[in-house]
Amino acid sequence: MLDAKVDKKQLNWADLGFQYVKTDSRFSAVHENGSWSNGSLLNSEIIAVHEGAPALHYAQQCFEGMKAQTAPDGRVLLFRPDLNSERFNLAASRLLMPEVPAEMFMSAVEETVRANYAWIPPYGSGASLYVRPMLIGVGENLGLKPAQQFEFRVFVSPVGPYYKSAGLAVISLAVSEMDRAAPSGTGSFKIGANYAGGLLATRRAQELGANEALYLDSAERRYIDEAGSANIIIATNSGCFVSPKSRAILPSITRRSIMTLARDELNLQTEDRPIDLRAEFDQFEEMAACGTAAVLSPVGRIWFDEDWHNIYQDGQTVGPVMQELYDLLVGIQKGEVGDQYGWLHEVSI
Ligand code: PLP
Ligand code: COI
Repeated sequence: MLDAKVDKKQLNWADLGFQYVKTDSRFSAVHENGSWSNGSLLNSEIIAVHEGAPALHYAQQCFEGMKAQTAPDGRVLLFRPDLNSERFNLAASRLLMPEVPAEMFMSAVEETVRANYAWIPPYGSGASLYVRPMLIGVGENLGLKPAQQFEFRVFVSPVGPYYKSAGLAVISLAVSEMDRAAPSGTGSFKIGANYAGGLLATRRAQELGANEALYLDSAERRYIDEAGSANIIIATNSGCFVSPKSRAILPSITRRSIMTLARDELNLQTEDRPIDLRAEFDQFEEMAACGTAAVLSPVGRIWFDEDWHNIYQDGQTVGPVMQELYDLLVGIQKGEVGDQYGWLHEVSI
């Protein structure tokens, strides 16, 4: 049991962006000859791996992202970490890596958060502790075959908003001419390979003045898939709340939660279905990108067909539906409003 009164780091929490900050401890365990080591906390943020490691050459790696937040009463809360564990193992299996048992995943996450208590942003600071579990294929291996050894690591970093600007930042997206993922490819798994290919698309979007790339389905280039680091949600002018259905997108935990809130708390008619960007754009009343890092970021305009297309009217920062969903979601995540869905997981300190 740690002294919960241990001093917090003297960081300017409110000024944090989404950047790596070195904290005190990280968890590491190794899988070899068919079994996992017990694992332990390490001080060094540096991983030494063989130059032939499949993680380096063939992107045999996956990761997760979640946040620990401080509640008004000081409790430290994770949001639906069981779903991160589940998604992590789907990615591991897809890439022929060993699964990390759910109990091991959870205790590694809790141990790492607890060991870095001083780095968990205090309640009301606007920041949170980002938790990054990762699994990499290490060890010598030149040919294209699975690694013989794997490292499971969990590190944490205090972070502020993913998109620069406080609170509900309105962002813009630019439809990418590049595809992110094929229908039967790896787009629905949280693996590094999907993101390396997106770096150039993000750069191009930013050159156009957008925050992020928006990907359409790669088969027909009609239907919205997702943004580079977030899923998409839309409130239509007929009172529906929709989100793209696609085999190529990451099944966002934030999106799944928001859809539940939209249906059960706002009594909206919700649906996951293919959304034809050009044919349906006129019916978009409000749109947002959502994810652990992005939280819920209203999308003000989209670049496609060589032009900007506005969703929000001039001067409008966020619509009422997205504002209400943001307040509900963040309220639950921070322990400010009742967790009637059982989504919170308290980390004992
Ligand atoms: N889509 C992509 C490509 C992402 O990287 C993320 C971030 O994790 C998301 C969606 C949102 O997923 P989640 O809400 O589970 O964080
Ligand atoms: C997250 O939201 O957790 C992500 O992994 C997105 C990443 C690009 C920062």
